Amino acid sequence: MDASEALAQVATEVRGCTLCKLHATANKGVPGEGPDTAKIMFIGEAPGFNEDRQGRPFVGAAGQFLEELLALAGLRRQDVFITNVVKHRPPNNRDPEPDEIAACALFLERQIAAINPPVIVTLGRFSMARWFPNERITRIHGQPKRVGSRLIVPMMHPAAALHQPQNRTLIEDDFRRLPEFLAQAERQASEPAAEEPRRDEPPAEQLSMF
Ligand code: URA
Repeated sequence: MDASEALAQVATEVRGCTLCKLHATANKGVPGEGPDTAKIMFIGEAPGFNEDRQGRPFVGAAGQFLEELLALAGLRRQDVFITNVVKHRPPNNRDPEPDEIAACALFLERQIAAINPPVIVTLGRFSMARWFPNERITRIHGQPKRVGSRLIVPMMHPAAALHQPQNRTLIEDDFRRLPEFLAQAERQASEPAAEEPRRDEPPAEQLSMF
């Protein structure tokens, strides 16, 4: 199966997924979207009201802001892959619960494996926790970390930054550095890991740390 078939298969499964309770209250599953050749993958939290209606990620106010942020990095929405930790909307946009995140984790893993992007940007604390379970977003945002052959870049969630001038400046500054991070990731991908032993994504059993 090639990357686009793998992504299409995940999307089909997400739309029909009943693995956790969220499918019962949500309208549409939101698998994510973007080219299978994307060099940068953005991982948000969960669909909100508009995403649940349209079945597409980041199409509401946070999505509009995300597109503005992408423009600061010289990117357009169609250049990147955009998805979420949880693929069905939690009721009233409450935080996703650990069992919901765990139920959805394999979809995200399969998307990452299919695209194999040199850079993953986590938006907010839920996607950050996939790689940095004990960190605080306020401390590590904008600081890329090499994991295996890629760079993971934690950033604030656009919805959290949109109406807070201080956070807005921080997230804008982080996005402006994305081209630099991508260049760094592509350079590193052609070299063996220097200081840490080469390893791939954390093993599946670690996913319960969400
Ligand atoms: N917020 C998210 O985290 N994801 C979306 O798709 C929309 C808003």
